[in-house]
Amino acid sequence: MDGPKRPRVLLVPFPLQGHITPMLQLGTILHARGISVTVLHPEFNSPNASNHPEFTFLPLSDNLSRNKATLSNAFQFISAMNVNCREPFQEYMDQMMELQELEGRVACVIYDSIMHFAESVATQFDLPSLVLRTTSAANLLAYHVILRLHEQNLLPLPESKLDDAVPELGFLRYKDLPYSISSKIPEPILEFLPSSFNIRSSKAVIWNTVDTLEKSPLTGLQQLYQVPFFTIGPIHKTTPPHNPTSLIKEDTNCITWLDKHAPNSVIYVSLGSLATIDAQELIETAIGLVDSEQPFLWVVRPNSVKGSEWMESLPDELARGIETRGFVVKWAPQKEVLAHFAVGAFWSHCGWNSTMEGISGGVPMICRPFFADQMVNSRYLINEWRVGIELENAEDSRMIVKNAIRRLLVDEEGKEMRQRSQEMKQKLEICVQEGGSSYNSLENLTQFILSM
Ligand code: UDX
Repeated sequence: MDGPKRPRVLLVPFPLQGHITPMLQLGTILHARGISVTVLHPEFNSPNASNHPEFTFLPLSDNLSRNKATLSNAFQFISAMNVNCREPFQEYMDQMMELQELEGRVACVIYDSIMHFAESVATQFDLPSLVLRTTSAANLLAYHVILRLHEQNLLPLPESKLDDAVPELGFLRYKDLPYSISSKIPEPILEFLPSSFNIRSSKAVIWNTVDTLEKSPLTGLQQLYQVPFFTIGPIHKTTPPHNPTSLIKEDTNCITWLDKHAPNSVIYVSLGSLATIDAQELIETAIGLVDSEQPFLWVVRPNSVKGSEWMESLPDELARGIETRGFVVKWAPQKEVLAHFAVGAFWSHCGWNSTMEGISGGVPMICRPFFADQMVNSRYLINEWRVGIELENAEDSRMIVKNAIRRLLVDEEGKEMRQRSQEMKQKLEICVQEGGSSYNSLENLTQFILSM
């Protein structure tokens, strides 16, 4: 005889790599705790269902799938996602609510904070909803600051003020805020800001962060949001090691290449899933890497160099230099790379997932943020946790690249920073182990969902 059906959660990810990954990881964790998982995902950047046979995947027709150019305007893209996915989501909800007796009770909807249409549809069906935040707590607080400055009529902020510290964010400067405030903020963005952090009727916020890393911003936010916070990060530390979530095929040959190198000898370079550079920066990076005389593993994503498909703009001689010392891939198994003994430093764009993965790997970081939350994360890595150095922006960037790599892999400074990184790694390990803050939070989250 069949036992009682498992309760079910409905997950609604935002269709970019840095958002899909933590949502699927959360699904894996909840599934392992006896909860069924249905993922309702836009057709754009569909996750690979065959990697997760334990989930049910339902595609939401978004009318954006064949028009990837829309991504160039992030705010329009987000707005279109929220409008276009609503109706197909409602239709699935209708069917699922009908089938509850057969397929198990729907306990709640868990949506990426950007996909806020899911909250309003859930309310329509009398279902509770929970928000998943895939960026740091400090980043959310920073958005509140931007809105406050606007409401106080202080924008645009004069250039002379950009280096000042933001009072409610400690060492964060105005120029580190996730949206530039040195010019007036356009109206559509002003409308977007509150919708991105208003949790409406949602019952709780799930954070891919760690209490010990973000005590102060979490305390500040808890005063603004009167609902339970579940800080369960770093989520990837609680998921099984082989839990593929990449949209691009991972090139695992780089692990064999890493195996041949000495401990802490390799610099790993990856700028995430969205950032792009120009051909000149590609060349300066390549020269700096070769001149550092250290082995390097370099991810160059297809179409990440403006005007090129890949690395064809590199002169032949430079390409040969790269081959002698480095290994280039289009996409790496990053978590595995960062946990590898040979990796001694991580040059990153400081996306939140990469930040958490870098800290969990215990490697010091070279921080080269591009946009949005990456400036906030970079400032934390450098000034609060003191496990990163800044890659300055300058004409002679090949020299800056070379020096930064040598500071972390060769100089005494790097050894001290690695020591601190290792201590942070251990702290995070304690948080996810039985009795740790993230472990306890996850237990509480599971009970919270089961009681719904
Ligand atoms: C950006 C942001 O900066 C991020 O904070 C925000 O939430 C989404 O947009 P992204 O560029 O995707 O995100 O960076 P990041 O958050 O670091 O996520 C990238 C993910 O891709 C990481 O989980 C990383 O492990 C993975 N990755 C990257 C690979 O698996 N292989 C690679 O070669 C490169």
